[in-house]
Amino acid sequence: MTRRRVFESTEAQDGYQFDMMKNNVFFRRKVRHYFPKLLWPGRWLYGSLMIVAFLFFLAKFAMLSTFHEFHMSRENDFRTTVEDESKITNNILVEAQEEGSFTQLLPPERFQNPDIWMQPDSAKYHKCVNQSPKEGGIGATNGYILVHANGGLNQMKTGISDMVAVAKILNATLVLPSLDHRSFWTDPSDFKDIFNVENFIEVLKDDINIVRTLPQEVAKVKPYTKAPVSWSKPRYYRGEILNLLKKHKVIKFTHTDSRLTNNGVASSIQKLRCHAMYDALRFTTKIEDLAKKLINRLRNNSNRYIALHLRYEKDMLAFTGCDHNLSEVEAEELRQLRYGVTHWKEKEIDGKERRLQGVCPMTPREVAVLLETIGYPSDTKIYIVAGKIYGQNGIGPLEDKFPNVFSHSNLATDEELEPFKHRQNQLAALDYIVALESDVFVYTYDGNMAKAVQGHRRFQGFLKTINPDKQRFVTLIDKLDKGLISWESFSSKVRVLHEDRIGSPYPRLAGISSRQEESFYANPFPGCICEKSEQ
Ligand SMILES: *[C@@H]1O[C@H](CO)[C@@H](O)[C@H](O)[C@H]1NC(C)=O
Ligand SMILES: *[C@@H]1O[C@H](CO)[C@@H](O)[C@H](O)[C@H]1NC(C)=O
Ligand SMILES: *[C@@H]1O[C@H](CO)[C@@H](O)[C@H](O)[C@H]1NC(C)=O
Ligand SMILES: [Mg+2]
Repeated sequence: MTRRRVFESTEAQDGYQFDMMKNNVFFRRKVRHYFPKLLWPGRWLYGSLMIVAFLFFLAKFAMLSTFHEFHMSRENDFRTTVEDESKITNNILVEAQEEGSFTQLLPPERFQNPDIWMQPDSAKYHKCVNQSPKEGGIGATNGYILVHANGGLNQMKTGISDMVAVAKILNATLVLPSLDHRSFWTDPSDFKDIFNVENFIEVLKDDINIVRTLPQEVAKVKPYTKAPVSWSKPRYYRGEILNLLKKHKVIKFTHTDSRLTNNGVASSIQKLRCHAMYDALRFTTKIEDLAKKLINRLRNNSNRYIALHLRYEKDMLAFTGCDHNLSEVEAEELRQLRYGVTHWKEKEIDGKERRLQGVCPMTPREVAVLLETIGYPSDTKIYIVAGKIYGQNGIGPLEDKFPNVFSHSNLATDEELEPFKHRQNQLAALDYIVALESDVFVYTYDGNMAKAVQGHRRFQGFLKTINPDKQRFVTLIDKLDKGLISWESFSSKVRVLHEDRIGSPYPRLAGISSRQEESFYANPFPGCICEKSEQ
């Protein structure tokens, strides 16, 4: 079956087409991988080459499992100090990208290295969030919780999922959350403008009680207001918070980001977090429908595409102090912006040192060179998941190597984008879906969106996600630029470095403190993904 037919058959089933489309990802990637373009002249030679390549990969995977430990430590050392994106809350508006027409397509993909689209091996793993109704029983309510979700889209989404779990722990009734309108994105959208309210209530109906507004009898109660302590264990909610809830009947949580610890939480609660995050918190039909159109335009029947989270935006560069390859004027503009934002505590930053530590967002040129090195041909379609790219050269250095660069700005028409004007969170939701559905997701900065999308892709069956080893990469590209190593040596080193950074299954990494553990939503295994032997 071709991909087009998969789409058509799913589109024919009204209502659930998007669900089906997501489930089909499992199927699509197998088809894609085992039946690469065989229908062209010279296919016999090509076919034999494929068999040799396939045997080579089998051998490679056998070796990889032997070096599992080594692999784990590599994944681990990448997780150095990651900047907390939540601290970026100011009022710079991200301007929409310039209007552009459809980029002219190049001739069909040439012969290419087949493993660039190969998905990680995850045959042993499956999602496991379905619970028996017994565990899902709802106790008598102890009171109502109002939650104000703070931060950008993904921070709010993970925060709300945690609050669903907290409502369960407390046997509380959850009032439909209110959203942040004052974060960096200054988006006035409410819950109902971003999320499908009916779906949210319906999917969670066996788990918690949800009401749209406070009922009459408690509407006059002055809510007890509190920011729950960050990274708390369930016992904090079962103790101190439950007492407050019983006493006041209505509690308002002013923050929802990272209020529940990643680990040390009962399995049923972990599963509920995923049920909320991946099943209940679907975006509105308006957002899903446009996302589906954009994906169809990108695929145009049979194309594969990369979704690139190019977090090279002004706010992030100012916050991190990363000014590599920017002009003096630009670096100064970023510096002034940083000094102007009082809640950004760090002011004097050595951007060069940061970059060498591997914690700067990659520049458009760096990521272009990375993709070229890994073997993506220049006609690869790349969907940019981001707002306006900073710097006088903007996205130019990427487009020079990969002309087929798309974004919602040039894939959607003006009329289609009109309802999303000044709705940055809704645009982020649109991009989220396009990124989730991509063949390969690449992120250049480990922020909230990158975490949420990579976790969701793991949940959907370990879809390929390239996690660049920025620290080693920048060292190598600097050597290349200084003429200290050849292109051949550089590219083979970079390729080897990224062979096992493709989102393969590994259990969520521990850390010395709650804050330093790998994020539950970036890697919901264990918890929501199980190995075939377990149950
Ligand atoms: C919540 O309700 C369940 C089921 O009725 C009950 O077993 C549990 O003890 C209750 N927990 C709290 C904190 O009220
Ligand atoms: C889609 O593919 C067809 C034929 O394969 C081509 O003629 C057309 O230009 C493509 N359209 C877009 C928007 O890529
Ligand atoms: C940025 O890098 C490019 C390519 O290496 C170089 O041509 C350009 O001069 C650099 N610009 C600045 C401001 O350093
Ligand atoms: Mg349910």
